[in-house]
Amino acid sequence: NIERAAEATELHPNWTTMETEKKTSEQMTDTDLSEQIKKVTKDSHVRAENTELMLSFQRGRVTLQQYKLLLCSLYEIYQALEEELDRNSNHPGVAPIYFPAELARLEAIEKDLEYFYGQDWRQKIVVPAATKRYSHRLRQIGKENPEFLVAHAYTRYLGDLSGGQVLSRIAQKSMGLKGSEGLSFFAFPGVTSPNLFKQLYRSRMNSVELTEEERNGVLEEAVRAFELNIQVFDDLQKMLNVTDNKSQNRSLTHSTPVQTLQI
Ligand code: HEM
Repeated sequence: NIERAAEATELHPNWTTMETEKKTSEQMTDTDLSEQIKKVTKDSHVRAENTELMLSFQRGRVTLQQYKLLLCSLYEIYQALEEELDRNSNHPGVAPIYFPAELARLEAIEKDLEYFYGQDWRQKIVVPAATKRYSHRLRQIGKENPEFLVAHAYTRYLGDLSGGQVLSRIAQKSMGLKGSEGLSFFAFPGVTSPNLFKQLYRSRMNSVELTEEERNGVLEEAVRAFELNIQVFDDLQKMLNVTDNKSQNRSLTHSTPVQTLQI
């Protein structure tokens, strides 16, 4: 443990040895927020993994259209999340889990959007309804219950840190991209070891002081965060299916005379 803690301190001068030493995964208890949150979102995680969009990733068949639309949604989501985290960075429920230098995604997403949509990407991006609902919820809790932001930060950032490297390679291969252009979203240059960082993040989550009621609120919000993500993925896929069907119908209409002639 000391070795691990030393490694973490070396990775980041602000991480104290004591802090990373405090709790390893073996020492976590059932009452730790990090354990409870993982437990209550377990089923939701399975459902998120099994959305059509996430299955496309896992099958190595993510299309450029899917990825571009996903980036549009992520832009809206992270803009709201990071603005609310920044605004509430001194709140006792946010300060311990506030890691903008290591985790902030907004600039990376902007870079990817520019790569795929061009310099005028701001005029071209679309924000589907479910994505609007998600960002609206983030802004609402940022104003009314900043202590719930940890549930959303956990859901997005720990998920990104868990699957990032694998998903980046899959996306690169599926879309035939050269190098890492368009894939900045997946890269965390400020995090040398995602596993060590996740360990630190969990211990920071566990240090947040919450009343029983607040804790239940955070757990409920985490399930909601997963649900909002699932709705974003489903909505996005529905939009793509409608577009696909339309273009299929167009090509059918187009080919009808030819078929008639053949008959
Ligand atoms: C963690 C897989 C999608 C949120 C993980 C872990 C794996 C994984 C292997 C590490 C588990 C561990 O360390 O014990 C996947 C796969 C996905 C996917 C294959 C789909 C392609 C998502 C989505 C979200 C998400 C869509 C949320 C929007 C999380 C979170 C964690 C996590 C929050 C951290 C759990 C914890 O340690 O408390 N995921 N995931 N994942 N994932 Fe996913």
